[in-house]
Amino acid sequence: MRVFVAGAAGAVGQQLLPQLVAQGHQVTASTRNPAKAARLRELGAEPVVVDGLDAAAVGEAVARAGPDAVVHQMTSLAGGLDMRHFDRMFAVTNRLRTQGTDHLLAAAAAAGARRFIAQSYTGWPNVRAGGPVKTEDDPLDPHPPAAQRQSLAAIEHVERVVPAVAAMQGIVLRYGSFYGPGASEAFVGLIRKRRLPIIGDGAGVWSFLQISDAAAATVAALEHGRPGIYNVVDDEPARVAEWLPFLTQAVGAKPPRRIPVWLGRLAAGEVAVSAMTQIRGSSNARAKRELGWQPAWPSWRQGFSHGLSAAEPARGAA
Ligand SMILES: NC(=O)c1ccc[n+]([C@@H]2O[C@H](COP(=O)([O-])OP(=O)(O)OC[C@H]3O[C@@H](n4cnc5c(N)ncnc54)[C@H](OP(=O)(O)O)[C@@H]3O)[C@@H](O)[C@H]2O)c1
Repeated sequence: MRVFVAGAAGAVGQQLLPQLVAQGHQVTASTRNPAKAARLRELGAEPVVVDGLDAAAVGEAVARAGPDAVVHQMTSLAGGLDMRHFDRMFAVTNRLRTQGTDHLLAAAAAAGARRFIAQSYTGWPNVRAGGPVKTEDDPLDPHPPAAQRQSLAAIEHVERVVPAVAAMQGIVLRYGSFYGPGASEAFVGLIRKRRLPIIGDGAGVWSFLQISDAAAATVAALEHGRPGIYNVVDDEPARVAEWLPFLTQAVGAKPPRRIPVWLGRLAAGEVAVSAMTQIRGSSNARAKRELGWQPAWPSWRQGFSHGLSAAEPARGAA
């Protein structure tokens, strides 16, 4: 298959390109930065320099590549964590999820592509009521914290327009919280500095995903699965109070501090309190059933111990 990957130099792209090439796909890979072109070529792809927010340039690049499938992996999240100003931290990513998706969908349709795969996220967007683990049939949060409203609206946009696109089969992959090479160094840095305390009872439930498993699910979605939305997460949604001390120990840091909710709200804002005490995890049953995908890292327990810098589980470690 000829595959166009938009946003190919990021954390997912670096894992995705070699996996696509290994499956025999012919890959065109986009970046905005000419200095990254050599790296994309090393990973086995034909690089193209284009800004995902420039509709005309995207149209030209995709038309020239003539892809059978287009993959949207454009985000802009390398700038650090600012939970208090969540929508501001996500502002460019939100544009990439709205305008960026629309430009790429239009370009893919015009070029005659048959399949379109877009990145979304699962975790905090889930409704914060009822049981601890949600499926794709559960609603998204009708009342997110004020600082997350625009980011949720951008996610809702991708999830509405991609599966509904008439000209192609549109699939949205809701990745869980990434860890792994290129995906968790900043987060682990905070833990080492003891700047990630457990707030309140730590009852927020997180679903994790090793970055190479995100890539494998994306490759699977090129060939399997009806149009729609799929949670791509590991098998073990877990409470903060369980996974954070484990991760802290796995990286050899001091145990996390514990602070009460009022202090967490004062220090880090409502989004941080929600993430630590209220959010829900996600089920991967649909992705396993319909994409024919299985995580190589089925649990963050094994992943935090051996998968923070390795792509593949060592033989016998699974
Ligand atoms: N599910 C999750 O937990 C999740 C999801 C995404 C990211 N993250 C985290 O966020 C951090 C940063 O992610 P990252 O390393 O993938 O980097 P990133 O800065 O989020 O960039 C990802 C890709 O998007 C591209 N991009 C950004 N703005 C663009 C634009 N205007 N037009 C076209 N392409 C654009 C970048 O292209 P250029 O080559 O042009 O810079 C890059 O290839 C990592 O720690 C990652 O784990 C987590």
